[in-house]
Order: sequence, then structure tokens, then C-alpha cells
Amino acid sequence: MSIIKKLLKRGKEVSAIGSEAIEEAKELPAMMRSRKYLRPEYKVIDTYPLTDPWVYAVITENTSTGEIIYNVEEVGLNGHELKVFKDIIDYLTWELEPPKGSVDVREYFQEHAKNVIRLFQIKLGRTPVLSWSKISYYVEREILGYGFLDPLFRDPNIEDISCNGPAKPIYVWHRKYESIPTNLLFPNDDELNKYILKLAHMAGKHISIAYPILDAILPGGHRVAATFEKEVSTSGSTFTIRKFREDPITIVDMIDFGTVSSELAAYFWLLMDYKLTTLILGVAGAGKTTTLNALACLLRPTYKIVSVEDTPELRLPQDNWVQLVSRPSHISGGGPGKIDLFELVKVSLRYRPDVLIVGEVRGEEAYVLFQAIATGHSGLTTLHAENIDAAVKRLTSPPMNIPHSYIPLINVAMVIKRVTRIDESGRLRPARRITNVWEIEDYGKYLEICRWDPVRDKFEVRLSSSLVLKRIAEVSGKTFNELIDDLGLRKLVLEWLVVNKIRSYRSLAKYINKYYVNREELLESIKVKKHE
Ligand SMILES: Nc1ncnc2c1ncn2[C@@H]1O[C@H](COP(=O)(O)OP(=O)(O)OP(=O)(O)O)[C@@H](O)[C@H]1O
Ligand SMILES: [Mg+2]
Repeated sequence: MSIIKKLLKRGKEVSAIGSEAIEEAKELPAMMRSRKYLRPEYKVIDTYPLTDPWVYAVITENTSTGEIIYNVEEVGLNGHELKVFKDIIDYLTWELEPPKGSVDVREYFQEHAKNVIRLFQIKLGRTPVLSWSKISYYVEREILGYGFLDPLFRDPNIEDISCNGPAKPIYVWHRKYESIPTNLLFPNDDELNKYILKLAHMAGKHISIAYPILDAILPGGHRVAATFEKEVSTSGSTFTIRKFREDPITIVDMIDFGTVSSELAAYFWLLMDYKLTTLILGVAGAGKTTTLNALACLLRPTYKIVSVEDTPELRLPQDNWVQLVSRPSHISGGGPGKIDLFELVKVSLRYRPDVLIVGEVRGEEAYVLFQAIATGHSGLTTLHAENIDAAVKRLTSPPMNIPHSYIPLINVAMVIKRVTRIDESGRLRPARRITNVWEIEDYGKYLEICRWDPVRDKFEVRLSSSLVLKRIAEVSGKTFNELIDDLGLRKLVLEWLVVNKIRSYRSLAKYINKYYVNREELLESIKVKKHE
């Protein structure tokens, strides 16, 4: 039966919006909002739309305790709208046939959802009590989005979303306010479990009492880790989501945010240009992968790049790039079908990469990576460590077991940290800074060529003693001073890009390539544009 016929048949029931039906449809599923912030001791300190005009973020602060809450304020559905909404969801859930062939499931649903809403609209005629655009917003949120948490996914200020169990507020990591509770929560185990099953389903994975751990990628690239019921987490199911940015942070953003200075960024650009092996250090969530991605975007497009990751987080503009991603076993704890980083790093060498990127080294894959670097490939990777000494200790201990003699194969190591800064209004704000950069001379001999001064918020860069520049001078036929001049030009280009807000990774790539291909022309065009 065609979708239209089915709908017209159901239309008889749908049009019967009576008080009984409305009574039946009480609340949207899994939805519970605390109204705590409405108390007089809370004042609104920030508000912005997430999907205008239906949902807003309202940030409130308790004036006596300083507690900050992230509130999702959504225009609710009235009883009539809720009934229609539920009918549409029912229809789409139970009667829509699965798409045939290789169509984009999202587009298929979107198209059908639109048609179904339109047909309901025709069937019900002009009804002043119904706002169709509001209903569409809720249908899209429910069917294609993340349900009642969807507004959090729409907020670009939110980096992480986590749930520590039922009846506890959902926490977010907000760019301005750090880790803060929201007014959203799952009222009980059932609703939370249902939501986690939905997440697993969306990720095309499985979670159950038998396999109570989920580590997967959601549509849109968000990384989810979850536990199910009370099997491994004492107070019930939990989950945490690291949101993925469609539009990655670039070196231009990093300069703009103050994470690096333009001088330091120019130095990193030179490192990438000459394929120097670079290690990015930091604690969890510090910004290691982001920095890795921003640096890799500066690699010459002529280089063959192969990346190896556990979850596909990298987004590069270069075409000559192969992205390899490990595959977990379907059986908890490992087993057949599993392809880990170690195997992928081994196979990646068959691709003869100029630059081998490993998302994060943790285990025996580090050894293969160092062997690759020893045989002339360049490496770019991250490691969970707070400073160079801790990093080298980790690298040379089990399970990585890198011999001491391999340590100088790393040319440069840097550490990125979450720090706090005071903004114009005198508030403490979280920020990221590359706090130290070392050039590696030998095992135990590290030359600190940049240190961030937290008092002045300045990067003290000392390139006059740079070993890396000396090494580049040896291979490039350029003198040390010519390289310093080159750095100055790159710095100018980067500053021009910041001022002109050319920040997306794709538009930035055009300028980076131009610098490689026709530097004079680029410098000339920048000069011209500067005078305009
Ligand atoms: N320089 C920066 N400025 C602002 N936000 C940043 C910066 N670097 C990273 N972030 C944000 O911080 C969050 C964590 O970044 P990222 O995933 O790179 O950290 P990580 O150190 O790789 O974390 P993990 O240890 O979990 O792998 C992301 O949401 C990212 O957008
Ligand atoms: Mg990471």
C-alpha cells in the first residue's frame, strides 16, 4: 500500500482529536526538566537560540553560591500538538517501509517525514491550535535527532555531554562555563536505558546486560561511551558523548583563541612543511586531537598521508590521504574480527606514506610507528601525558617499550593544556594554551624553545637556538637566517588570515597551498588586499 493511501486510512483516526486522545498524550517521552533556576536566587547570565524560535539555552547563576546551570528552554507542545506529534511518530515508526537500495537513510526519513507532516496538515485542515513548524521541529528532533537531548547537540559551545545515572542532572562541558549541570535528566532507569539503546541503535552497535559496554561513533561523528544497567556502573546506566565538530578548529582559530601565537603557529607550519616528527601531549580532553588535526592541515598536499585511528576524528583537506580506522570485536573483551591500531599501523606502511598520523599511541602500535619513523617516514601523533618527562617515561615503559635510542626520532613535542583566564568582565573563563614546546636532542636532553607565560598570557619563543631549524637548514639548502625570514613571512600570512577571518579548513588550505606553489604571488595579493 502506498504511503499516501496508508496515511489517508489512518487519517480517520488522526482527525479525531478529542479530549480523550489529548488526555492520553501527557508528556513527551524521557523528558524531565528541573525548574530550580526559576527560584529568585538564580539570575540569567547568558541566553542564546539553539533552534530559533523553538529552543533556547538559558544560563543561570545562583547569586549566593555561584552555581551555574545550563537550562534548555523549549517551547512546549500543547495537548493537540502532542497528539498529532505522537501520531506522526507512530506512523513513521510503524508504517514507513525501510528504504530499498543504497539510499541515504537520513534523507529518506527527512523526505518522508516532510510528506507525512504535509499530509496530516491537509487532512486536518486549518487548525489554529496547531503550529506545524513547531510539530516539524519536534518530529525532526525525535526521528532524526537525539530526542530531548537534541538541543545540546545543536549548541556549538558544548564539547561533552554526560549522564552519570538516572535522576541525576545531565552535565555538559561548556566552552565558557566548563563543566556545568543542565536542567535535563532521565527520571528513571527505564527512560535512561531506552535512550542508551537508542544511541546504540543510532551507532549501529549493540549494548545489553551480556555486553554492557558501548564505545561507538554516532551519526555526525560524535564519540559515545556507555554502560548498561548496573552491570558495571553501580548507580545504573551511564553515558558520555564527545561532540564532533563538522567544521574542525584550524590553526587560524587557534591563533584567534590565543591557544598559540602567530609566531609559534608559523614554526609549526614549517615543521609540517619539512615533515618533522611531532608529538602532541596533554591530559584527557585537553585538545590533543584538535591540535593534531590543525597541524596536519598544514602538510603539503603533495605528501602521501595515512592516518590510523580508533575513532575517525580527523578531517583533512588533502586528497592524498588514506584514513584507516580500527575495528572492535563484536564480542566483548576482544575476539574474532578485531582489527587494532597495531595491525593498521603495520598495514599503513604498505601505502608508503610520507607522513603517518596515529590518532593516539597507547600500546604496541607505538613500536611500529617508531620503526616507521626510523626508516624515513614522518610521524605525527598524540600521547596522554602532562609533560615531556612523563611522555618519555610512558613511551619507554610497557606496553609501548620504545628503546631509549628511538626517543630522538621525535623532533618536537608540545603540550596543550586547559587553563583559566580572566575575561573583560572579570570572570574566570576556561581557555586552551600550548604551554611548552620542546625540541628533542637526545634521550633526556630536551630543549624548551617555547614556554607560555601565564601571567602575561604570552608565548616566549626562543628560535635562535633551535636545533630543528639547523636540521632543516642542512637538508633544504637554506641558511638559518633564510629560514627565520621564511618564518616571518608565514607569520604574516597567518596573521592576515586571522584578520580576514579565513578560518575554515578548506578555505585555509587554498592559501597554504598557494604559499607552497607560488609564494610571491600570494604575498603580493595579500599586500594588495591589505591596502584595499
Ligand atoms: N584550542 C582550542 N580551543 C577551543 N576548544 C578546543 C581547543 N582544542 C580543543 N578544543 C575542544 O576541546 C574538546 C576536546 O578536544 P580534543 O578531542 O582535541 O581533546 P583530546 O585531548 O584529544 O581528548 P581525548 O583525551 O579525550 O582524546 C573538543 O570539543 C574541542 O573542540
Ligand atoms: Mg583525542
